[in-house]
Amino acid sequence: MRHINLTWGSVLINSTNIATYLGLDLGTSGLKAILMDGQGKILAHADADLKLSRPEPGWSEQNPSDWWQACLSAVDGLSKTHPEHLSRLAGIGLCGQMHGATLLDVNHEILRPAILWNDGRSGDECKQIEIDCPRSREISGNIAMAGFTAPKLAWIRNNEPDIFAAIHKVLLPKDYLRFRLCGEFITDMSDASGTLWLDVKKRDWSDTLLATCGLTRAHMPELVEGTDIAGELSEGLKTRWNLRGTIPIAGGAGDNAAAACGIGAIKPGAGFVSLGTSGVLFVSNDRFSPNTKNAVHAFCHAVPDTWHQMGVILSATDSLNWLARITQRNVVDLVADVEANFLRPAQEIFLPYLSGERTPHNNPDARGSFIGLSHNSTPTTMAQAVMESIAFAFLDSKQALNAAGSEISHLTAVGGGSNSPLWLKIIATNLNMDIQVPEEGDFGGAFGAARLALCAVTGADPAQICTPPKVRHTVQPDTGLLRSYQDNYQRYKALYLAIERTSS
Ligand code: XUL
Repeated sequence: MRHINLTWGSVLINSTNIATYLGLDLGTSGLKAILMDGQGKILAHADADLKLSRPEPGWSEQNPSDWWQACLSAVDGLSKTHPEHLSRLAGIGLCGQMHGATLLDVNHEILRPAILWNDGRSGDECKQIEIDCPRSREISGNIAMAGFTAPKLAWIRNNEPDIFAAIHKVLLPKDYLRFRLCGEFITDMSDASGTLWLDVKKRDWSDTLLATCGLTRAHMPELVEGTDIAGELSEGLKTRWNLRGTIPIAGGAGDNAAAACGIGAIKPGAGFVSLGTSGVLFVSNDRFSPNTKNAVHAFCHAVPDTWHQMGVILSATDSLNWLARITQRNVVDLVADVEANFLRPAQEIFLPYLSGERTPHNNPDARGSFIGLSHNSTPTTMAQAVMESIAFAFLDSKQALNAAGSEISHLTAVGGGSNSPLWLKIIATNLNMDIQVPEEGDFGGAFGAARLALCAVTGADPAQICTPPKVRHTVQPDTGLLRSYQDNYQRYKALYLAIERTSS
């Protein structure tokens, strides 16, 4: 583990006002870069879009070189629009989409497109891993789910043996960016938890789990905490972006743990609801609390001695994107129409399982459905049903987290979909919980990553830095709609049971 030996106090006095921190969030639909000052104020941001390829139904891939181009384009953008802020860069924090299998050969060349978190091709391999390693759940704290990295490697071993034989390193998406930024192979505990090769309690690679997939520690990056220093920006990139001095890169986090650092959810019970490409209901825990029932994820948090649980929905805003695409509408207009016309819960019920589902079903072969269509159904009513289906899926996740022993004390909204007040209202009503909306700024993963960079560079206590933001307003449940939503939730659950499809 590497630390820079500075105290928070001395940095506060000497460089708070001058230092800036770059947070990079490698999402599935795009990369976001933010520049933050030493007091946590966001000074600038830049985005770069990413495309996803689905070569077969249920498959999902991206080319790691596109991630790198997106990173260059976003930071190049900041160096043009905000050269003064960027020139004071003191550290970089990385976060991003979890689980993606990024494979490099001995020459550090990419062996094939990365297989992503929402790819469901490896259902059979999940079963095989649990047969070959009966202690898999005990060691990893998690069910072998198709989204995790290990089953993807088992699929490659079965289907692309030449590629498997050529693997030198397996990286997670954000750690491929790290490799391009500094040339080192390092990951953090929160992201490593999603591989199914980590002993999540010990915060160390498990030789037993690695051996199940025909791999060893040598194939893995070095492990650090999210608040450790894990690399330094290369000379070539410092020249490109006109930077001077040593620029440390923090361990960073998977996107969900990073978002938790951004909204201050590092104390037990603090949680968030994330409406991004995936939907996530997240709760922080002070101890490792595995409970593999209902496909709850039990992972390390990005700060030391802290863990978290989450329920994961594979297609949240991605379900709306799908509907917008097939109805040839723009997703923002579609949501605006739903907001303008909303009276009561929709007649239509949607199952958002377009790429299978993790929590609570752990079924990569599940698929989406609409029922209750009538001559009155329109893209707007169907979009409302899609938004409601995500609220039902969050309720499934809440029940799974409660059954796993976690009570969520308070919830903050993060992710692009949380810009819709109606969507948050529908979710608050279904969860029967208040949801807090942060006052301003972007409290997503990129902000959390920048906070982790600040902790890594200054040695500051994460509890002092990863604090909750000011609340702009609190979305409360609409008790008048609760009863109808409870009825529709029962229809939603019955529908899945009626049409459940598995590969077995
Ligand atoms: C978490 C998960 C998703 C991705 C998306 O387990 O698969 O939230 O991290 O970015």
